[in-house]
Amino acid sequence: MQVLSTIESFRAAKAALPGRRWGFVPTMGYLHAGHVSLVKRARAENDHVAVSIFVNPIQFGPNEDLAAYPRDLDRDLELLRPYGVDLVFHPTPEEMYPVNFQTNVSVEEVTRYLEGAARPGHFKGVATVVTKLFNIAGADRAYFGQKDAQQTIVIRRMVADLAIPTKVIICPTIREPDGLAMSSRNTYLDVAHRKAATVLYRTLTMAKETFEAGERSGDALRATMRRGLDAEPLARTEYVSAADPLTLQEVTLIAESQDLLLSMAVRVGKPRLIDNFLYENGKWLTGEFSGQ
Ligand code: PAJ
Repeated sequence: MQVLSTIESFRAAKAALPGRRWGFVPTMGYLHAGHVSLVKRARAENDHVAVSIFVNPIQFGPNEDLAAYPRDLDRDLELLRPYGVDLVFHPTPEEMYPVNFQTNVSVEEVTRYLEGAARPGHFKGVATVVTKLFNIAGADRAYFGQKDAQQTIVIRRMVADLAIPTKVIICPTIREPDGLAMSSRNTYLDVAHRKAATVLYRTLTMAKETFEAGERSGDALRATMRRGLDAEPLARTEYVSAADPLTLQEVTLIAESQDLLLSMAVRVGKPRLIDNFLYENGKWLTGEFSGQ
């Protein structure tokens, strides 16, 4: 496993390896079993695997947690070591954004809602860095987690619109045994808030059961989610959504065989947590428990 910090050295290391198919997993580090699941899938489907570890400054808003975002490269490298990663790309912000950098990628419509509405500029930062990372990695396939549902929609739209020759593969959300979706930001939770954070998964499960009992009103599903979250005094709801997973428009009445994305953003103490369940082709994608 080689660790490269410049674009030039990464490209040289990649060119020196035989084998054709490359899988790529972009991350911001502080890795956990969710990231590892993407790496394992990339390993299984390709000759070589590259992982990037880069806390991308331009996807954080001025009042967000860029400076405090957890970082531990040594721990990340130890975690990756058993999984047959060939190359780790770990650039500095100056390598990615040299003086005079002035080009951005902006995906218009699907970034107007949910995370895009709550975090202005966030997806422009994500789309820009992912385009640049894709250009550097030159991979055949790139792996993303369903955990960040809107991010998967934005990246897929961008790759289609710009004919980027990397296939995007979406992998299930990996959860702690009590249902909490794994996230680097979970490290900010103290004991009481960690316990309270299970309210996201419980509430999504409630809404899914309401749907399965025949409820097809978007308003009713959103109300169920609001009630579920309100029951936890340590949680502060930012949004709940029952939307069309292609357009992210909120649904009024869910038609037969229509797909549905249930999602939410909740402050539990300091950290802002997001989670979702996706109903696609008549099946619920709710994620997997770590260790399975
Ligand atoms: P980061 O939050 O580090 O996540 C890297 C990848 O891991 C993303 O595709 C994310 O969806 C996935 N992931 C995170 N938690 C997961 C979980 N519990 N189960 C499954 N997958 C999970 O997302 C980013 O970084 C950045 O926006 C990035 C795409 C790297 C661009 O900077």
